[in-house]
Amino acid sequence: MAIVGAGPSGVLLSQLLHRAGVDCIVLERHTRDYVERRIRAGLLEWTTVELLQQAGVGERMMREGLVHEGILMAFDGRVHRIDLARLSGRRVLVYGQTEIQHDLDEVATGRVVWGAGEVRIHGIDTPRPQVTYERDGATQTIDCEFIAGCDGYHGICRASIPAGRITEYERVYPFGWLGILADVPPVNEELIYVNHPRGFALCSMRSRTRSRYYVQCPLEDRVEDWPDERIWEELAARLPATVAARLVTGPSIEKSIAPLRSFVVEPMRFGRLFLAGDAAHTVPPTGAKGLNLAAADVRVLSEVLIEYYHEGSERRLDEYSQRALARVWKATRFSWWLTTLMHRFSDDALARKLQLAELEYLAQSEAASKAVAENYSGLPF
Ligand code: APR
Ligand code: PHB
Repeated sequence: MAIVGAGPSGVLLSQLLHRAGVDCIVLERHTRDYVERRIRAGLLEWTTVELLQQAGVGERMMREGLVHEGILMAFDGRVHRIDLARLSGRRVLVYGQTEIQHDLDEVATGRVVWGAGEVRIHGIDTPRPQVTYERDGATQTIDCEFIAGCDGYHGICRASIPAGRITEYERVYPFGWLGILADVPPVNEELIYVNHPRGFALCSMRSRTRSRYYVQCPLEDRVEDWPDERIWEELAARLPATVAARLVTGPSIEKSIAPLRSFVVEPMRFGRLFLAGDAAHTVPPTGAKGLNLAAADVRVLSEVLIEYYHEGSERRLDEYSQRALARVWKATRFSWWLTTLMHRFSDDALARKLQLAELEYLAQSEAASKAVAENYSGLPF
């Protein structure tokens, strides 16, 4: 197996395959240090937690991760709690993707080629595909049976599929998320999603001493437009007054602006190439489905590949795309819905009234809250 990309999808896949005795190599364009420094989301569905445990990287995660049983939704001066545990029977774990990446890299040492240049895939519609890359000025060639494209949204694997053999579905949202990471205690024990006339805000965390906050911002804005003080002021202005009064501010460790996009490609396979994670789909961060979907793909892909290697059954390989996409579309729908419900889209007064009506309904209806809880905590397989 040759795996392109050593983000969470690629390294987790390699670890699960390795434990089942399947020989694999991972090619990553960037250095390990660079990959581990990227700040990403940090909320795990319980099925993701279990998969990481199965991969042998659960120990630190269970020690340091924070188990959450609910989330808060703030709107129009009110706060509604969704009791995930009671309504869905499931909890979630707060544990940063940077930590997961580090834990996975530790166990994958030796199987990852960091800093591989000019990675190219060849013969994906033949039984003997190849991957080439540059290392120390020389071209290296890997002969393999299958290739996993785990190289993210901007990777080369999806782009290597001939035009017309896959269909892409895409929506780009008309705003971004400005994120700030700071070593200050979180303003609240549970996450708070805020719908405010000034725009969406989210209070999240990485630990009891490290907070992660986001505010919706115009797509054209740059990080330089947002000195720390301006972010803290804007966040406080969007939070319910009682919450804002508790907000502890401090110097940022990291700040970034991310665009929001819903993107899915169908099918997730072409010949001997399987796509997994962000290479096959991207969701807006609202609801934190990105990493969880990547883990779900890897779960199915590792399962069918291991079965193929143990029993020679090609039939299961043919099921990969359909099984993965069933979950992908449901999470794409949920993250689109939550994004639409919580953000400011325009000055359209009707749209705002409709959001408030839906939020009020959510706060009054056990059935509506249960639907959110089921999707948020992760649908069962
Ligand atoms: N050659 C080698 N490696 C590449 C190439 C290339 N041409 N192009 C991209 N890569 C690498 C990137 O440098 C990156 O490390 O592939 C990796 C892809 O990792 P991610 O973008 O993290 O994607 P994935 O592993 O699927 O993880 C999905 O992480 O990005 C978040 O929101 C996303 O939470 C989701 C999860
Ligand atoms: C995060 O902690 O970065 C986070 C949490 C929940 C989300 C998105 C991001 O919905």
